Amino acid sequence: MQEIEKILDQYPFVQRDNLIPILQEIQNAFGYISEEAIVKVGNYLKMPTSKIYGLATFYNQFYFTPKGRYHIKICNGTSCHVNGNSLIIKEIEKILGIKDGENTKDNGFSLELTSCMGVCGMGPVMAINDKYYTCLTVKKVKTIIQDYQQMDE
Ligand code: FES
Repeated sequence: MQEIEKILDQYPFVQRDNLIPILQEIQNAFGYISEEAIVKVGNYLKMPTSKIYGLATFYNQFYFTPKGRYHIKICNGTSCHVNGNSLIIKEIEKILGIKDGENTKDNGFSLELTSCMGVCGMGPVMAINDKYYTCLTVKKVKTIIQDYQQMDE
């Protein structure tokens, strides 16, 4: 938690405008924003935690639970939808037994449906951590996930 204090120390002027940059830094440092972090930020900025949650969820870029070791983002934008992403999403859900916003029990994988990932011409698209996979098919996604599962064995 000292890390959070270090982040807060970078914002010596207690201004509510600093909320989003502070939350971004906390998320960058920890991968998500814990309840404890929200309370600390709330005390620091003198804001109720409910208000912080409300604002943070509005921005749709913050995670309040830790992501899996392999965080899968799959594009749910219009172009990828037209290119059949629903079959890919169903396959991932079937293999891992999780839905959007959930983690596998062992925390190995988490799944997130996102808006356009900016490579519409190569859809359906997903990213696992920072690696992108394009032109996905059901067969391709099965192999990719199996490879990650084997890395963990
Ligand atoms: S809609 Fe999927 S990358 Fe744009």
